[in-house]
Parts: sequence; structure tokens; C-alpha cells
Amino acid sequence: MGIEHKAWNWKNVAQGSWDEISEEFLPVALQWCDKFETILDVGAGRGRHALFFARNGLKSCAVDLSPDAVEMINKQAEAENISVETAVADMTALPYQDEMFNGVICFHTIFHTDYEGVKKAISEIYRVLKHDGEAYITFNSMDNPNFDVKKTVDGYTMIPQDGDEMGIPHCYLDWKDLFELLKDFSIVSMNETINFIRRSKPSRGIHYFVHLKKPVKGFT
Ligand SMILES: C[S@@+](CC[C@H](N)C(=O)[O-])C[C@H]1O[C@@H](n2cnc3c(N)ncnc32)[C@H](O)[C@@H]1O
Repeated sequence: MGIEHKAWNWKNVAQGSWDEISEEFLPVALQWCDKFETILDVGAGRGRHALFFARNGLKSCAVDLSPDAVEMINKQAEAENISVETAVADMTALPYQDEMFNGVICFHTIFHTDYEGVKKAISEIYRVLKHDGEAYITFNSMDNPNFDVKKTVDGYTMIPQDGDEMGIPHCYLDWKDLFELLKDFSIVSMNETINFIRRSKPSRGIHYFVHLKKPVKGFT
């Protein structure tokens, strides 16, 4: 039995920053539009990335733990007369067969669990990706000044006791952890970024932005 997972409460999140495609992922998303057919958005939230791929004519699937988020994606897709296949699901048990997708985006989601949960979610993303497929995953960095190992449940994971994210686990990793966790993939790029200002607002986030490729069968 792993740590308890808890969805975001999207009803409290104002329209805006979570509704436009993320600037870090955009260059990779544009490449995927040119070369890929099937995309999965894991922990899709209001679906900004899943909707982007659907608008561009790709077969787009999205999962989130939050039924409200999934309903918001469905409504938006319907309003635009585009198709996103959605499911309420946990990232550690994706409801898809092996090797179904050319691309998997998992943006600011995989850290909402503990170390073992991150490991499981990575193995699920690997499983549903086709060989030669790509993933783009963002991770919380231990360099974040909010990280305090003494307040963790497993040396990595803090669970806020108040505020908007009360009860939602946040797992923090360093680059050595990532090299270990991602060893089955080949790493296309891995950057650690400090956001001082985001969309004109102060920000404290420090994340790893990682672009990965699942090796062609027979190669590692
Ligand atoms: C920071 S939001 C990011 C949303 C989206 N990826 C984006 O970039 O707009 C994190 C999302 O992860 C979802 N989430 C949290 N734990 C999850 C889990 N175990 N499985 C699937 N989704 C989860 C939350 O409900 C929330 O929608």
C-alpha cells in the first residue's frame, strides 16, 4: 500500500496560467505535432496540453485523478468540437495497454506522490510508450528552498498540512536520483530551472524539465 494520492481542487483555480501551453514544453510539443500521431497527457489538469494536441489533429488522451478536471477537459473539447479521450485514473496505474503512445507529457504532476510512487509512475509511462517514442516529464527539485528533509516521510516527500495543497504529497529529487530513476530511457535533455518570475508574477519553483526517448527495441 503506497502513500495516499490526492487530486487538485480545480474548482478553486482561476482561469489563466494553467490554460496556455507551457513555454518550456512548447518547442517539443511542436516537434511532436510534426512527427507523432498519439499522445497521452498524464495528470492533465484542465488539459492545456491534451487540448493543444487535439487542436493540431493528433489522437489525444488525457488522465487525471480529479473527476472535475476531466469534466473540464471534456467540456472544452466539446465546445471546440475536437476530441480528447479522457479517463479519471492514477498515474501509477495507467488504464492503457503497453506501447500505445508516441508521446507522453507529464507536466508538474509526477511529484504528487512519494519516491516509490514516482518510480511506479515512470515505469507506467515507459510501459505505455512505443519504442522510439518520447516523454516530457517535469520533476520538483530538492534545490527548492521549501524542501526540508526533516519534514519528509521518506527522505524525499513533504505533505503540506495547510493551504491550497493540504494533504497533496510533493516529492523532491536531485539530479542523481533522476539519472537512476530514468535509466531505462535515453535522456534527450535535462535542465534545472529556477522560475523567479512566471507570467509577470513572482514564483519560487525550481524544477527539472526532462525530455526522454524510449530506446528502439533491442537497443539500450
Ligand atoms: C500542477 S497540476 C498540472 C496539470 C497539468 N499537467 C498542466 O500542466 O496544466 C497537477 C495535476 O496532477 C493531478 N494529480 C495529482 N496526483 C495525481 C495522480 N496520482 N494521478 C493522476 N493525476 C494526479 C492533479 O489533480 C492535477 O490536475
